Amino acid sequence: MIYFDEQTGIFHLQGRKTSYLIQKNQQNHLFHLFWGSRLAKRFPDYLLKEIKRASYLADTDHIKEYKLERLPQEYPAFGNSDLRKPAFQLSYKNGTNISDFRYDSHEILAGKPTLTGLPSLRDSKGCETLVIHLMDSVQKVKMRLFYTLYQEADVITRHTELENYGECDVEINQMNSACVELPTMDVELLHLSGRWAHEAGIQRTALSQLNYRIESLRGGSSHEHNPFIALVEKETNEQFGKAYSMNLVYSGNFEATVDVDQQEAVRMQIGINSTTFGWNLNPEATFVTPEAVLVFSDQGLQELSHKYHNIYQNHLLAPQFAQKERPIVVNSWEASYFDLKEENLLQLAQSSKDLGVEMFVLDDGWFGKRDDTSSSLGDWFVDQHKFPAGLSAFIEKIKKLGLAFGIWVEPEMISEDSELYRAHPDWCVEVPGRLKSYSRGQWVLDLANHEVQDYLIDTMSALFREYAIDYVKWDWNRSITEAGSNVLLAAQQKEFYHRYVLGLYRVVGTLTERFPAILFENCAGGGGRNDPGMLYYMPQSWASDDTDAIERLSIQEGTSLIYPPITMGCHVSQVPNHQIGRVTPLETRGIVAMQGNFGYEMDLSKLSPVERLKIKEQIAQYKKIRETVQLGKFYRLSTSEKSNAKAWQYSKDSQIVVSYVQVQARPNFASKRLRLVDLVSKGLYELPNGEKRYGDELMMFGLAIDPVKEDYFSQQWVLKKVED
Ligand code: GLA
Repeated sequence: MIYFDEQTGIFHLQGRKTSYLIQKNQQNHLFHLFWGSRLAKRFPDYLLKEIKRASYLADTDHIKEYKLERLPQEYPAFGNSDLRKPAFQLSYKNGTNISDFRYDSHEILAGKPTLTGLPSLRDSKGCETLVIHLMDSVQKVKMRLFYTLYQEADVITRHTELENYGECDVEINQMNSACVELPTMDVELLHLSGRWAHEAGIQRTALSQLNYRIESLRGGSSHEHNPFIALVEKETNEQFGKAYSMNLVYSGNFEATVDVDQQEAVRMQIGINSTTFGWNLNPEATFVTPEAVLVFSDQGLQELSHKYHNIYQNHLLAPQFAQKERPIVVNSWEASYFDLKEENLLQLAQSSKDLGVEMFVLDDGWFGKRDDTSSSLGDWFVDQHKFPAGLSAFIEKIKKLGLAFGIWVEPEMISEDSELYRAHPDWCVEVPGRLKSYSRGQWVLDLANHEVQDYLIDTMSALFREYAIDYVKWDWNRSITEAGSNVLLAAQQKEFYHRYVLGLYRVVGTLTERFPAILFENCAGGGGRNDPGMLYYMPQSWASDDTDAIERLSIQEGTSLIYPPITMGCHVSQVPNHQIGRVTPLETRGIVAMQGNFGYEMDLSKLSPVERLKIKEQIAQYKKIRETVQLGKFYRLSTSEKSNAKAWQYSKDSQIVVSYVQVQARPNFASKRLRLVDLVSKGLYELPNGEKRYGDELMMFGLAIDPVKEDYFSQQWVLKKVED
């Protein structure tokens, strides 16, 4: 519930396990009072009065020396007595950039208003929204702070809107989606970072009096950093400790910052990256920031992940796919790359079907005259040399085998050697007269241009209509450089990056609405744009271009911190692995790929009899556990050898699935056990070998791990609860 107490001026957003408190004082400034474990319905107005920093007692209501800097701000402005990093900065016609927004009124609404043009968590029963209206008495600008409380899911979303009701333009230089302050720096910064083929590594850093910044300047949310930031108590592990986190529902340049001030208070913010952003807010126009999802946990990272998984699966993903089990795919990429031959592909499809695969995905190389990365992006018509009888005839053969059909596209890109470029050279992202860098031999289409958006919507619609397509892998394989648009006025060029993202959302929003039965997979050279913004439209994501099972352990672990397993694409690939040359056992590749949406990225028509048998069993095994993996609860398990082994568990109804992977064999090993979590203490569980164990024993003693002399060893147990 959301409460407001007139007397104290305190708003209390009270979730199932969380409370968030904001206070307005008599001067109508807004202060961030508290975010943490759930409090009773109370309004502690002494908190602000008792803030004593550097022997300064902030009598916020009466004194003249009104030092905002000493007090926790809810949405700090630029240009007042708080000289820390602001949440927003505006420039006015008179050349000044000082703002002073004060509380004017508020509303508490049932449900949730939509964010125009942007993805956001969906409205749901039991959510309520607080809108705080702020006014600047000097400038004719209104600000609205939105807080939606998802009561049961225990999650708060925030965004800000700015409305210009004056006669002059207002320039927005920066406008974050959320800002919170913690009173102590006794926390660590936790974030996900990496690089292409090595995404989502969990990083933890102790804080000192510094400004920390996690960002993307690449045009997409990037492989380097996920738009996610958390502050966690130092001892926080999977089950214990407090964690405060923000995830931005946005697929472009973002910044997530943490600033430790001179009194050791910590300000955490997230929003559009101000380095590459500017916006002219015309009279009568409103600007809407992306949405930030705020999740707090006082029971470690496991609860944090559960809250994200639950809210994303149930309130972010397209409802028709949220609870729908995903097909087991075979993807042509690592099997044949650009060397697509119909006969080989049909053989691959036939063998895959015999093994139990459910969908065939035709990856890059099927269109234009694309034999390598140097041509044809933009020419979305079938290559008649590769498919002489046409694509429909090929798809028909695939469907006759009993397989669904998926296809790869990269619509936001253009090759210099393409009919599209010859017809529309001005549709590229570019700054005339400047170098236009190639990357992977390609350029980016200007999605800030409405005509380009319409063209993509029409071309892709025609493709999806003409062919019997069940699944689309939507790729984005390069960053944006030399950013500029041929259709934007000089004054609007600074808006380019955000306009690109809005254009992208219009394109994918229209297409996913028009083709609700198609399952879209989001890909950007793997996880280069794996963010809640894309997940809103495309309910799954290819986690990484690195398909090596051991590399995938940390990539999938980091990804699982926020994103539910049902959204995570994981495939078994050939050995030696194409990215790093490592040879791992087929069993281990299978167990690691079973962590999410399962499939194969290898030539299943060229297997030895033993491999064929093993893969058949693997697929049958995944089908037995798929519902638990995709619709159950996921847990990362602690192992005694943190860096050398990873383990995880899923639970749904009476099925428990446990997987364990040990990276390197060690000599003279001690006997090892793996403790399970969150079982019914008195419940009786049957192990794969028929033995039975009680829940409390499995949680206290754990399962015995087989001692083996072998690198990259793995084990999986499927347990059945036979008595409650
Ligand atoms: C990207 C994807 C790959 C594959 C290639 C095709 O790198 O991540 O899975 O689709 O493009 O060019």
